[in-house]
Amino acid sequence: MSDDVLQSRMLAVARAAREMAYAPYSKYTVGAALLGDDGRVFGGCNVENAAYPEGVCAEAGAISAMVLAGVRKAHAVLVVGAGEHLITPCGGCRQKLREFCDPQTFRVLAVNENGQQQQWTLEQLIPSSFGPDHLS
Ligand code: THU
Repeated sequence: MSDDVLQSRMLAVARAAREMAYAPYSKYTVGAALLGDDGRVFGGCNVENAAYPEGVCAEAGAISAMVLAGVRKAHAVLVVGAGEHLITPCGGCRQKLREFCDPQTFRVLAVNENGQQQQWTLEQLIPSSFGPDHLS
């Protein structure tokens, strides 16, 4: 599968996930698509809570879906937010993603509502991170 086809598949998953977001407080809906090691793409949406800090980001939902499916390594995440802003995973989600990837090669793609995009490696977004290797 070409990179373009894969990316449009991830974009479709992230957009569909965003439609399902539960964001009554911020009204800021987010969708994420996580590319697993096995080629499957896992979607996630943000799920907020009346007790605000208990809300969960879209990326965290996608990670849970991947782990539930038995996949423990990911290669890329695509995140779609509202408007013209390109949104990158929050600090907590950068660390959560780091658990399941090689930060040097893992790609983070941000796409806005107009389809404009930018990408980084996870290493660029969370340099010199702490990971599973430190505990072995
Ligand atoms: N949010 C995400 O789901 N992912 C991000 O990368 C950034 C922020 C959510 C959390 C909250 O529900 C809303 O966006 C506003 O912060």
